[in-house]
Amino acid sequence: MKTTKVMASEQSIDKFDGDLLVYSVCEPVNGEKSIKCDPIVEKEVINAFQLGDFSGKEGQTLLLYPNESQKSIMLSKRVLVVGVGKLVDKLGKIDIYNLREQFRKVGGTIALISEKVKAQKIMISVPNFEDVLLNNLTSADIAECLAEGILLGDYRFLKYKKEKKDEPDYKGLSEVKFYLEKGSKTTISLIRKAIKLGFVSAQSACQARDMANEPGNGWRASDFASYAQDLANKYNFKCTVIDKEKMVELKMGGILAVNKGSDEPPKMVILEYVPKLPKRFGDTKNIDTILLVGKGITFDSGGICLKQPSGMENMKYDMCGGAATLALMQAVGQESPENISVVAIVPATDNLTGGSAMKPGDIICHYNGITSEIVNTDAEGRLILADALAYGVETFKPVCVVDIATLTGAVIMGLGHHYSAVLGNNDKLINQLQEAAKRAGEPLWQLPLGKDYTKQIESKVADIKNTGGKSAGTITAAAYLEKFVKDTPWAHIDIAGTAWEFTEKSYIPKGASGIGTRTFLEFIRSWNW
Ligand code: BES
Ligand code: MN
Ligand code: ZN
Repeated sequence: MKTTKVMASEQSIDKFDGDLLVYSVCEPVNGEKSIKCDPIVEKEVINAFQLGDFSGKEGQTLLLYPNESQKSIMLSKRVLVVGVGKLVDKLGKIDIYNLREQFRKVGGTIALISEKVKAQKIMISVPNFEDVLLNNLTSADIAECLAEGILLGDYRFLKYKKEKKDEPDYKGLSEVKFYLEKGSKTTISLIRKAIKLGFVSAQSACQARDMANEPGNGWRASDFASYAQDLANKYNFKCTVIDKEKMVELKMGGILAVNKGSDEPPKMVILEYVPKLPKRFGDTKNIDTILLVGKGITFDSGGICLKQPSGMENMKYDMCGGAATLALMQAVGQESPENISVVAIVPATDNLTGGSAMKPGDIICHYNGITSEIVNTDAEGRLILADALAYGVETFKPVCVVDIATLTGAVIMGLGHHYSAVLGNNDKLINQLQEAAKRAGEPLWQLPLGKDYTKQIESKVADIKNTGGKSAGTITAAAYLEKFVKDTPWAHIDIAGTAWEFTEKSYIPKGASGIGTRTFLEFIRSWNW
């Protein structure tokens, strides 16, 4: 994976002789006739403002080329001015979630323009909006979101593009410097910490994208296992891979059934992070453990209930939950939080149609003994998650468990590509996840659960069945999972609509969005149960 150097710089702007120097300019709120910006580019921006070419609106850009006389005060090859949009609404209200998103989008726009002009070394002037935003969003917060947006926006998946084109390739950004404008209350060391937060979070989301963008023949269950093993070596995690033999021994009937149509063996990949004991906690027993479970179907053909061919290639993304979960562990390794243990489980297999494949009407028995009638072999995600949840809850006794999965097409009908769905048995957990998700710009919409929905998955011949009929498909899928977590506070996140084709924004590329990783990271960073 490419690494971009990201740093806070004390070098003053006029000494920067790289490819692109960037300013962020906000939009005046109540139709003021002035625009606030840096003195170096002030004249030109005001000129453009008066002509009506640039007003600081979100997504607007102005690319300037310093002339001979300006070169005495500016060595940068180019100057980019990016619109942030409004900092406050008409009533003067500040929405920090929206602002974080605005600055991430500015970051994404910076990456897009950098690609256009093939800029590799860039410098960002961290804007000083402290007089308007006060302590709601500090310059350090802004730097964090800018860094995150730039690195998320600079992502490309080009591994399989081998043919060389005529024009020289753009290799992406090599160096991103942040310069803190004078007069800010923030210090350079706070900026340094902030951009590190943005860097770690973007880098792990890009890891998730890398895994998820791999096609079905490029990323198999065993690849999840070796990825986890590598992380374990690097960060001292415990890694356990439950293989097929062990699954048989443990009676994990769900994942085994899904795997039956495949020649590729299944894996249940487990990573455990335990913090080094700071004295004040006394004993590891006092540290909360959270469990995260991600669906790792490396390709979903639908099985015997075969999907239609059109769009089936997208089912290579059916492991985005697993990707988000393991990529998160990379960030956990880097940040080593001291107040929380994290266990990540990815049940992984493909869902194919071989001669031994499970069939509609088959009855399987899950890890916890619950029997299930297979009505549709394409409802496979819940089968592998059920075993992982039951095993994880029993083995690790977490204070809470969250699973994430591209689980149902129905969630796209309900919420489209802009919200992921969240469901669960504990409102406190759901609220905390929603808060983390808002901070990350990956919003969650809660759907209900309850006995009327659970009734839809009652079976005449087994304890439950694996589909709940046409209506409320996202809810009945969650109702299935609920059976496997006992009383543990649990939440389920359905990312079928957002794992790819997520809302179009500057820092989200085509293909896998990497959704979930940053939400989990925010959740852990603000852990407080
Ligand atoms: N992986 C799919 C869900 C999916 C669909 C993800 C579209 C992304 C886009 C899942 O395994 C599935 O096939 N679900 C079925 C369940 C049904 C048979 C009850 C679905 O949603 O159609
Ligand atoms: Mn399916
Ligand atoms: Zn699936």
